[in-house]
Amino acid sequence: MVTPLLLEESELAKIRSFFPILVEKVNEKPLIYLDNAATTQKPLAVIDKIAHFYAHGNANVHRGVHALSERATEEYEDARAAVAGFIGASDAKEIVFTRGTTEAMNLLASCLGQAVLKDGDTVLISEMEHHANIVPWQLLRDRTGIKLAATRITDEGRLDMEDFQNKLETLKPALVSIVHVSNSLGVVNPIKQIIDSAHERNIPVIVDASQSVPHFDVNVKELDCEWLVFSGHKVFGPSGIGVLYGKYDRMEPLPPYQGGGDMIESVTLEKSCFKGPPERFEAGTPHISGAIALSAGLHFLNSLNRKRLHQHEAALLQLAEAGLREIPGIRIIGEGGEKASVVSFVSESAHPHDIASFLDAEGIAIRSGHHCTQPLMIRLQLPGTARASFAFYNTKEEVDALVATVRKIQDLFG
Ligand SMILES: Cc1ncc(COP(=O)(O)O)c(C=O)c1O
Repeated sequence: MVTPLLLEESELAKIRSFFPILVEKVNEKPLIYLDNAATTQKPLAVIDKIAHFYAHGNANVHRGVHALSERATEEYEDARAAVAGFIGASDAKEIVFTRGTTEAMNLLASCLGQAVLKDGDTVLISEMEHHANIVPWQLLRDRTGIKLAATRITDEGRLDMEDFQNKLETLKPALVSIVHVSNSLGVVNPIKQIIDSAHERNIPVIVDASQSVPHFDVNVKELDCEWLVFSGHKVFGPSGIGVLYGKYDRMEPLPPYQGGGDMIESVTLEKSCFKGPPERFEAGTPHISGAIALSAGLHFLNSLNRKRLHQHEAALLQLAEAGLREIPGIRIIGEGGEKASVVSFVSESAHPHDIASFLDAEGIAIRSGHHCTQPLMIRLQLPGTARASFAFYNTKEEVDALVATVRKIQDLFG
């Protein structure tokens, strides 16, 4: 586990200066942005890259022989290589650009559903999944004869590893698809142990890394997962761009997800022949500026000391949890073990939406509700939670403001 340690003030001020939105005012108060699990703010490197592309480099990729198109293609393919490097993939061909985690999951459900999963096969997810790792499998189940099962969550909001092992043994799933870090609770699942246990039984694994990649290094070679997915907008990049990593030998046998231009070798009116991965899975004009700007964001992250950023986030989490724990009537959901910098809490007297509205009036942005994890809320018997999620640009003073305002709300409602 990482040692919590705040960044030096000057270091933090410099990092914050890269994010122009952080000096915005909201409701006439300085913005305190604590909704980073929903989406992160963008550094100038990303914002400038988008403007630069459209001002100086805009052309379609893979199609033209003219210089601008070649330049755009080179930048787009460089972005793919940068993403591969960022997550430790051995080959850029293992990176498919998608619209985000949701599309990556739908792509996998659709393609694995056609070519790999058979009637009666079980896909094992968990009770803490984001809807993006539930609904695509339900749609597939309803279209085919696959089954869907979920590993239980403990009362503390942790993955029940005993139940996971039992389900591996008794259900003999054909596929495990599991979240690395819970977006609702911040709990970090023992992903390496999960993958190794599945592999002992020759079961391939999809990792939803949407909430881990933004906080710490994730290396697909070390994890040895078959697939891993994440969204650009949660890792300081633009929205509308995401990543599907897939081991080449797992992607190569899969059929296309969508049909159209760019993914074909040849087309006649009778039939089409498809390119190999990754092009086979990227029909039509891709989100070129998104991919390029995502790569700029990843370069920006690599220019910082990510281990120190992680320590800073851990210190913010520790401060927030300690402060909230002291407020009578406030209960933190998801405790006892490794966590990313997300704190979910409920009040005995105030609804999560009321908490979020009061905080908003003070310029403090948090999220309230089920966080697209309704089965988890049902399991924990909660209507929803209030969730503050930190990024490395957040400060101790912002955490103090959160805690002080929650205390005021609690006094008011309590
Ligand atoms: C763990 C997790 N999975 C999947 C998603 C879906 O991501 P997107 O909406 O960017 O596709 C999210 C977004 O909140 C998430 O936190």
